[in-house]
Amino acid sequence: MRAHFKTAVRTSRSPLPLTLRRELADIVGGSNFLTGDATAGYVVDWTGRFHGWTPAVVRPGTTAQVSAVLAACNAAGVPVVPQGGNTGLVGGGIPLNGEVVLSLTGLDRLDPVDTDAMQVTAQAGVSLQRVADAHPGFDLPVRIASRHSATVGGAIATNAGGLRVLRHGPMRAQIRGLEAVLADGRVLSHMAGLVKDNTGYDYPGLLAGSEGTLAVITQARIRLTPRSENSVVALIGVSDLAGLHGLAVRSVREVTGLESAEFFTTAGLDILLAHTPLARPFREPAKTYLLLEASGPHAMEQLGELAADRPTAVAETASDRARLWQYRERHPEAAGFLGTPLKFDVSVPSGQWVHFASTVTGVVHSVDPYAQVITYGHIVDGNIHVNVVPAADADGRHQDVVFNHVASLGGSISAEHGIGALKARWISLARTDAERSLFAGIRAAFDPRGILNPNVLPR
Ligand code: MLT
Ligand code: ZN
Repeated sequence: MRAHFKTAVRTSRSPLPLTLRRELADIVGGSNFLTGDATAGYVVDWTGRFHGWTPAVVRPGTTAQVSAVLAACNAAGVPVVPQGGNTGLVGGGIPLNGEVVLSLTGLDRLDPVDTDAMQVTAQAGVSLQRVADAHPGFDLPVRIASRHSATVGGAIATNAGGLRVLRHGPMRAQIRGLEAVLADGRVLSHMAGLVKDNTGYDYPGLLAGSEGTLAVITQARIRLTPRSENSVVALIGVSDLAGLHGLAVRSVREVTGLESAEFFTTAGLDILLAHTPLARPFREPAKTYLLLEASGPHAMEQLGELAADRPTAVAETASDRARLWQYRERHPEAAGFLGTPLKFDVSVPSGQWVHFASTVTGVVHSVDPYAQVITYGHIVDGNIHVNVVPAADADGRHQDVVFNHVASLGGSISAEHGIGALKARWISLARTDAERSLFAGIRAAFDPRGILNPNVLPR
């Protein structure tokens, strides 16, 4: 796909009209208006697969500045790609065709936690880790591996899921209020933090997962959860995928304080062991691994019963828990040690999970016999991350076979990362004509001139 996206990039790089350039620089100030080499960190994604270019990166520091920037770009008909921490994995934050980059990282105010309401107000550029650390008694319900760089705005715009969806739901479920700016500069604000509020359309819920196509999120009021005390992590070795899935399903029923149920296989672990200081978690060999975290008074006993006599590492202290989590949380790096990966984040119904997990490598090899395939993910959500390091041209063949396989099993081509640019060609596998025409109508209502993130979610 690298070749595909590179050819999609305009060859003649037109600068911004001089008047718009002056206007944008005046709005954000010269030091927050970047051009040329200063834009380098904003035009390539974390995996290195998506490369674009931009005539300018603008970094507003207030909602009023975001509003003025969008109004100016909209009036000039100049497209804009909103960008948070640039941790996306599907090219959704990269200016593939010379769009202006609207970086929200300058909106970094985090208010004190409202401990009665168990909520906090954070501007779009605040990292998820800062929100999680905002109060010793409370935690952000959503936890993702890239939380130190990923921002509130980006996590809402992509409806980030991650490691605790089974307990708390994705980012959409944490929104208690939202402020966002429409393409023409109008500010929408609904920040009261009311738990119950049936006064019309739930546009904050609609903006979650809209991938920057409807409006630019500037701040949010976010639900917090009491910080779990005394949680226990168990990493269990399991001999095959059917046993792994069976154990994960049992964990949901039998472990009352279950927070996370994650899996990886020896394919990814062996790469991490070869390229990082991580040591094998236990001596006994296992083909697959189930990582469970649970809290509450029965956590240790219930996890112990589940693990029975399988090889298991258990962690009770914060540092030991973090050590075990590294085996799962460093998996996104594994494929990167081998090359530039294609990242898939598919989901399938529970009854198809074992079949999909057992067949997906063969499906990839049917079009690229020497591709390397690593799977891991959020097992009880039915969500498998299939990381492919292609040996053949990444010309769409991998997406074709993986997404058709997923669709044939009743699954989704995007469980968490979004459609972005990576999957835009395959949206018809996931959504009907009627759904896509509704999407186009919604998009036109929010952004009639079509300036917001034009490369993602096809119109
Ligand atoms: C994860 O679950 O680790 C993230 O979604 C990132 C990835 O897919 O690599
Ligand atoms: Zn994930």
